[in-house]
Amino acid sequence: MKDNKIIIAIDGFSSTGKSTIAKELAKSLNYIYVDTGAMYRAVTLYAMQQNYINETHFIQSELINALNNIKLTFTFNKELGFAEMYLNGKNVEKEIRTIEVSRFVSKVAAVSEVRKKLVLEQQEMGKDKGIVMDGRDIGTVVFPDAKLKLFMTASADKRAKRRYKELLDRGDNVSYEDILQNVQERDHIDSTRKDSPLLKAKEAIEFDNSDMGLKEQFERIMSLVKDRI
Ligand code: DC
Repeated sequence: MKDNKIIIAIDGFSSTGKSTIAKELAKSLNYIYVDTGAMYRAVTLYAMQQNYINETHFIQSELINALNNIKLTFTFNKELGFAEMYLNGKNVEKEIRTIEVSRFVSKVAAVSEVRKKLVLEQQEMGKDKGIVMDGRDIGTVVFPDAKLKLFMTASADKRAKRRYKELLDRGDNVSYEDILQNVQERDHIDSTRKDSPLLKAKEAIEFDNSDMGLKEQFERIMSLVKDRI
């Protein structure tokens, strides 16, 4: 693999801080960062807007038929220093991070046709650039040959606390109990779905960051990167 095609795969459970680490790593290495969770969230938002999914129903066939109408793009935001998610030309960065989208995203992500579309788009993005990609199946399905694979874990309680704080900080009105329940539900659906369940790739390095600050995590991961790449 040429230097400019190095792929770093960061998988793991929800709210383990994968994206924060991935963003920092990409910045330091001057690689592209791709948040694949944002893509599944944007498809979920579309399904909600079209009323294909709500608390009482999920009309999978309609979503599958509409997949060609969903155009996902990442546009780099210079001020923020990372790319933001656009759904059919509209910036949806804020809308895709709500608890409502989190409630339905695992159901949408379990649909094989949705996965097929997004995996192809993700593989295309990694074709000829250095890339850090975070998700659930990057080291197992999207880029099984990734140069470095990390698998992030942390206790459900720690993860729910992190997510709770994030949502409170941006002014959302949420309860800790709802967030914990959502984290546990997503863990369950993501890990038990038939198509590409959340699994640690054999050669992935496991990172439990329940009791690790960002700085320490970043330093440890950077030293792995220096060893391997
Ligand atoms: O990383 P995140 O929490 O934003 O991801 C949202 C959901 O999308 C997650 O619960 C499962 C799904 N997902 C997936 O199935 N595969 C990926 N590569 C990334 C996310």
